[in-house]
Order: sequence, then structure tokens, then C-alpha cells
Amino acid sequence: MPHKQPMEAKKHVKSWHGRLSAEADSATAALLASLDVDVALWKYDIAGSLAHAQMLREQALLTAADLAKIKKGLHAVEKDIAAGRIHMPIELEDIHMVIEADLVRRIGDAGRKLHTARSRNDQIALDLRLWARDAADDLSAGIVKLQKAFLSLVQAKGAAVFPSYTHLQRAQPIVLGHALLAHVEMLQRDVERLADARKRINVCPLGSGAVAGTSLPIDRARTAELLGFGQFSRNSIDATSDRDFLAELCFACSMLAVHLSRWAEDWILYSSNEFGLLELHDAFCTSSSMMPQKKNADTLELIRGKSAGCLAQLVGMLTLLKGLPLAYNRDLQDDKRFAFETVGMMKQVLAVAPGIVETVTVKQPDLAGGFLDATSLAEYLVEKNVPFRTAHGIVGKIVAQAERQNLTLAELPLDALQKHSRKIQSDVYRHLGAENVVKRYAPDGAGGAKQLAAQLRHWKRLLG
Ligand code: ARG
Repeated sequence: MPHKQPMEAKKHVKSWHGRLSAEADSATAALLASLDVDVALWKYDIAGSLAHAQMLREQALLTAADLAKIKKGLHAVEKDIAAGRIHMPIELEDIHMVIEADLVRRIGDAGRKLHTARSRNDQIALDLRLWARDAADDLSAGIVKLQKAFLSLVQAKGAAVFPSYTHLQRAQPIVLGHALLAHVEMLQRDVERLADARKRINVCPLGSGAVAGTSLPIDRARTAELLGFGQFSRNSIDATSDRDFLAELCFACSMLAVHLSRWAEDWILYSSNEFGLLELHDAFCTSSSMMPQKKNADTLELIRGKSAGCLAQLVGMLTLLKGLPLAYNRDLQDDKRFAFETVGMMKQVLAVAPGIVETVTVKQPDLAGGFLDATSLAEYLVEKNVPFRTAHGIVGKIVAQAERQNLTLAELPLDALQKHSRKIQSDVYRHLGAENVVKRYAPDGAGGAKQLAAQLRHWKRLLG
């Protein structure tokens, strides 16, 4: 943001020059300032001021002429900030004072009336809530876009039979769509978490003043309504110092970051030679400056890496809050650094992630290794009245034998299988082989083809 004009040391640039006689030196001014960060709130600050002024006029705390000047002035400030034409000396500390100083420069005394019945404490609480509301909506939209990318991939390739893993060892066969929709489930909880956090964000603090409100007859319901809030806050002490809503937003981002990091980790592994399950599009990979053959999943690695930053911001935010006495304390000025950083990171990641999903190539996995059908064989024996623990032991021995002979379970001849249990008949082969197993899964929520169809119906209804 613009710091175009030379910074001059202006005397009495502060609103409290009547009270304090000494001016901060430049190092102190830099410590006090949050302008480098809160400049991002300028649109919200102006929107809040316009609503506040409108309400002041309706309560006869401003004349019609003053309101007209303030509106015109704020719109002019808005235009000039957008064009990078506003002088922003850090001595003014924050975006609220920059906007007000510029308004006063333009319209004089009418501008000096704007801050009637308002403090920077309820002003910043308002700006942050307006910002957080948009942030939650933008993040949700980004997540839904990623969910839709997963859904398209499931529709195109979801029926492919894939291994599933526990402990990163081959477990049971699944259809690929089942694994992909696991990510969609996690993302859905992120959307719901943001929607829930939004309810607590969407409370108007304006009118709380510095800490205890004002003796002037303001109309809090009116400003809340003008700014699209569902309700206004009940307690001015809480409203001026509550940052739960920002911490919640940071947590929602952290949880999202963890989900994206887990997905990234999966796909980094799956796209390696060792797994050979997926091939990432070149556009999302980089090569090596030395090894000409390399195709590295750097975008996914950065998505995994960004989660560290998000978690750090959440811890920072909570630590900032934990020791604060009632009510507003200047520590709170740094809340924005945490929240902006974490939301910014997630927006950046969400702008890239759908493309990775949309362009991935699904490879034909080698399903022979890892005895993916061993559980199915044990369950076959259960259907023949063998107790499960016994069946588990029998199949363990069969697997050990197959491993020694370097065969799959389906490659073992019937007499070899029958040496382990007389209950095994020729129908056993319908229960062996990954392709057969995925057709046999019984309960809702399992990893088979028919369960995938049910999940797909759900997500198509929800995501369109
Ligand atoms: N820049 C400040 C912040 O972000 C605004 C509130 C300042 N209030 C105060 N009483 N000094 O929190």
C-alpha cells in the first residue's frame, strides 16, 4: 500500500494531542503503528464509518449537511486509497486515523464529528468482524471449489480399484473414489466449521465505544442492520476485547491446513515411483537444477509446509489473548498479523489445489502385492462357521506360505488352501483378488463400488 508522499514529522497529528505533550520518536512511532498490516482493512473501515454516520444523522447527532459532507468525503478518500494517492504517515498509527485525518483535511469540522460516540476500540472490533465475515465466505467458496474438483475426479476415475493403507502398509482393496471422498468429507467439516464460526463473527460491536458505551443516544440496531449483522453485542467490555472469533477463524484455517497437508502427503507419496498410483501434471511440479530426470511435487510439498505457518499463527493468536485483563489492551493490535497471515496462506493454497486435482492422471496400480484380499479370505471362513479369531490364524498361515512361494492368495491351488482348512471350497476364488473383494463390501460407508454410488449421490446433491 501507498506511502507515496515523503513522511514529514507533523506536530499534533494525533487525536490526543490535548492530553499528551511529548511526541514519540521514530522507533517508538514504528512500534505503535499497525498501518503496515491494518491498511488492508480500509474498505471495511470506510463502510463502518458510512453506517455510523448515517445512524448519527438519524439520531440527530449530525446535521443533514454534515452527513452529506462526510459521505462525499469518505467516498473521495476511498477512491484515493484505491488509487494509492493517500498520504499514510506511520505517526497516525493505523488505518482508522489515516482515513479520519484525510477526511478532516478535506471537509474540516464535519469530519471531526464522525468519531462521535465511537472509539477506535469498537471501530477496530467492527472492521475485523467485517473482514472475518468475508474471509470465512471466501475460504468456504475456495473449499467448495476443491470439493467439486475431487467430485469430478471421482466421477471420472472413482471406480478404479486401489489399495488402501493403514500404517502406510497395504490394507484392504477399495475403489479409488472412496479415498478421494474421504478428503471431501474432511473439507466438508471445514466448510461447516467456518459457517459455525461465522455466526459468532456476525455480531456488531459498534456502539460499545472504548469500553463502557456512550451517554449519547445512538441506535445500535440501526448500524448493525446497515452493516448486515444478524445482531449486536450485549456487553461493551466483551465486545471491545473479544477476539474469540478471530481465534476460531485461525483454528478453522489450521484444521483446513492440516487436512490439506494430509492430502498433499498422500499425493506426494502416491506420485512417487515407489507407489506409482498417480501422476501429477507438469504444471504443478518442478525439476532439479542438477538431476535432469527429476519431477518433484513441489506445490504439494508447499501445501504441506504452509500448514506449519497456520498452526504457528493459531498458537500466536491464543497466546496473545491468554493474559489480557479486561478490556481492550494494545496487545490486541497484533491480532491482525496472525489472522491475516493464516487466512492469506489458506487462500493462496486454495487457489492452486483444485488445479492439482483436476489435472492428475490416475495410474493402473499393481494390486498383486500386499495380500489385500486376506481379510476377505478370513471373512469367507467366518461365513463357513469358523470363529473369526480362528479364521484369522488360518489365513495368517496361508499368507506366510504364499509369501514364501511368491504367490498371491488367488494363485494358491485349492488343495494347498485346503491343507489349512477343510472348510475352503472352490467358491473361495470368488472372494479372492482385489477386484472381487470391492464387490463384496456389505455395510454403508465401506470402500466398495455400491457404497461409492451412494456417497456420490449424496455429494452430487450437496455440491451440485
Ligand atoms: N490500531 C488499534 C488496533 O488495531 C486500534 C485501537 C487503538 N485503541 C487504543 N485504545 N489505543 O487495535
